[in-house]
Amino acid sequence: MGNELKGKNGLPLLFGVMGDPISQTKSPAMHSAALAAEGLAGTYVPLHVKQERLEDAVKGIVALGYRGVNVTVPHKVDVMKYVDVVDEAAKQIGAVNTIVNEDGVLTGYNTDGIGYIRSLKEEAVPDLSGKHVLVIGCGGAARGIVYALLQEKPGSVLIANRTVAKAQELADEWAHLGAISACGVGDLAQILQESHIDIVINTTSVGMYPKTGELPIPAELLSPHMVVSDLIYNPLKTELLARAEAIGCRIHNGLGMFVYQGAYAFEYWTGRPAPIAAMRSAVLSSLQA
Ligand code: ATR
Repeated sequence: MGNELKGKNGLPLLFGVMGDPISQTKSPAMHSAALAAEGLAGTYVPLHVKQERLEDAVKGIVALGYRGVNVTVPHKVDVMKYVDVVDEAAKQIGAVNTIVNEDGVLTGYNTDGIGYIRSLKEEAVPDLSGKHVLVIGCGGAARGIVYALLQEKPGSVLIANRTVAKAQELADEWAHLGAISACGVGDLAQILQESHIDIVINTTSVGMYPKTGELPIPAELLSPHMVVSDLIYNPLKTELLARAEAIGCRIHNGLGMFVYQGAYAFEYWTGRPAPIAAMRSAVLSSLQA
């Protein structure tokens, strides 16, 4: 084991996840499994941080010698003010979920979007170039995904949102990054009659536990040739995915996004390829616990 993989003064590596609430997080189980699989001495803990203590908590990363932390709801935007460097993609997305402590210099990254895209490519669509993609929703989660998606040179990205103006704002903001357009969810039936869509991605929370019967778009808009993906992983098969599967679509759930955002974080912190299988099985066991 090289020096770079030891904590301060040769102590075990320290990691954590800051959020409020935080007791539900599956990240400690996933990263503890990753550290164990790699034979690294380290600890990953949940850190309950209130908004008014976020700045102090970030300073604490350096003071306590943490190698890295994840940042989750509701701190992903505010935390950008308190790190030393914000990676360019995270800046564009407007959110940081991973911090690396390099000799006291804190750099913030966003691994949610690239994590999702890596999962989509490895589990469902190996090559996204030229693909026509419908993204439902345009909140924080959608921003990470659309930004990472545009790096893959898709044929087009259509953002459908309940509030059209918000989708239009995002399409305008990133018009220079690719063929991106916006519409209201209510306009989709009309638009889909004229346009071909290869991949549908739900980024909204519609269908998430406990309201598991809800659909973000009418199921009649789906066609068997589409790959249908949902960021939700509780339940693992949302109503949208169940309806898509029933008509013969290939489906992809949000578990991979969670695993791969963690995988990128692990890779930034340790410089080693993440043990994906161990991480995935740890999350699955903790979901079933
Ligand atoms: P996140 O960080 O999870 O993306 P967010 O930034 O609050 O959360 O964004 C939520 C997205 O899901 C928005 O696009 C929102 O649509 P609006 O812009 O119209 O609010 C969408 N959304 C949330 N609940 C919804 C619902 N019940 N029906 C349709 N869209 C919904």
